[in-house]
Amino acid sequence: MRESLTQIVYLSYILASVLFIFGLKMLSSPSTARKGNMVSAVGMLIAVLATLVHQDIIGYQFIIAGLLIGTAIGAIAASKVPMTSMPEFVALFNGFGGIASLLVGWAEYQRILTAGVDIPIATSLPIFLAILIGGVTFTGSLVAYGKLSERISGKPVLFGAQQVVNAVIMALVLVLGLMFVFRPETNYGSFIVVIILSGILGILATIPIGGADMPVVISLLNSYSGLAACAAGFVITNTVLIVSGSLVGASGIILTKIMCKAMNRSLTNVLFSGFGSVGSAKGADVQGEANPITPDDAYYVLESASSVLFVPGYGMAVAQAQHVVRELGEILEKNGAEVRFAIHPVAGRMPGHMNVLLAEANVPYEQLVEMDEVNPSIETVDVAIVIGANDVVNPAAREDESSPIYGMPIINVDHARTVFVLKRSLASGFAGVDNPLFFKPNTRMLFGDAKASIQALVTEFKES
Ligand code: TAP
Repeated sequence: MRESLTQIVYLSYILASVLFIFGLKMLSSPSTARKGNMVSAVGMLIAVLATLVHQDIIGYQFIIAGLLIGTAIGAIAASKVPMTSMPEFVALFNGFGGIASLLVGWAEYQRILTAGVDIPIATSLPIFLAILIGGVTFTGSLVAYGKLSERISGKPVLFGAQQVVNAVIMALVLVLGLMFVFRPETNYGSFIVVIILSGILGILATIPIGGADMPVVISLLNSYSGLAACAAGFVITNTVLIVSGSLVGASGIILTKIMCKAMNRSLTNVLFSGFGSVGSAKGADVQGEANPITPDDAYYVLESASSVLFVPGYGMAVAQAQHVVRELGEILEKNGAEVRFAIHPVAGRMPGHMNVLLAEANVPYEQLVEMDEVNPSIETVDVAIVIGANDVVNPAAREDESSPIYGMPIINVDHARTVFVLKRSLASGFAGVDNPLFFKPNTRMLFGDAKASIQALVTEFKES
């Protein structure tokens, strides 16, 4: 009976792992992403149920209490958190993943110590990795959360010999870690010091990074949380935890790489350059006269346009304009225009930010196009409507070698026949770099909150 139950548990773990892999694959396209999420969730349900019937479970009372408290906090947080605060919440969740793995490692160490049996390296090594990576992830994520939620300054905190201090701490961690790994039975003190040092390392590694680079760091910390979970999986020899941890670790690092590439930065530059700190390059002075336009006049241009390209950015998320944008898109399509939405890989404040908002507003997937797809033929676009995007359409990235964002691939909206830029002022975007797009002869500034401006355009169409 016990034998066959164990086999069922292992088979369920294999099934769950397969579902995770297929779910992850489906997440790579907007049209299958929702289904992919569901497939992965079913995999997780199977993994959880299989674990709950595992003979190693000695009591359900703590599990039930944890489930109730966790569900309550999760449900309240999910219903209250605005979409714009999602990135900092993801940071917090990564941190919880990290501390969970650390605690699993610690608890298992404590359990074996109490049992008074020898601890093999195959167990002490993953325990060390779980507490090290888990500790770094926990405190690093808390700093990322603090920066993004503006509880602490988003500016990079740099001090002399920062790298040296980090290197010394890392060396100490390695020495103490090796002592623990080879003699875990007699090195409880080293174990505790490694926990403390990894927490300090997480803080020191994250404070020099500017707020604008936080999404990249969050993706990296997400990868770490996966690796910590993978190590915890080895500690308790749980295959599904090893597989899911590796998947999170690998996908997090791939996403980090994609984001760095989209910003034309190396990971080292993101982690160590203090981008956005006082005194960093600002690029050439941008001067000129911006041409404002009223919704009334913008309507006449749009009315005769046969191809319209929406380019959303962070401001669309702030204004929560996605629903009314979809409505304007439908009106333009009925009016005979070809309507598309061009999405820059780092538009907004988190990976896939714009995709999520547009999917929420039911914008058809076929209308979404990627930057590389749209740029080669952007000259044929009659009107590009930039909705609260700034850095991702800044031609300085192409033209001004002294600009901090020089080399970052952008959506070349300035090459469209006419550009409408919807924002509240001429203020710069997250990178703090002036934008010459606002002063180009084919650009018209539609000042105001993006939702109100788009609503005004919709009203113009409806009343005409
Ligand atoms: P940003 O460059 O940050 O510009 C957003 C613009 O939205 C602002 O200039 C602001 O101008 C405008 N805005 C704010 N509220 C608005 C409202 N209610 N109505 C209309 N406009 C509003 O945005 P972006 O172009 O999406 O670029 C994203 C930035 O984040 C890039 O620098 C990117 O490198 C960085 N970043 C993103 C990621 C990910 S994963 N997305 C990762 C790392 C870094 P006003 O104040 O004048 O309105």
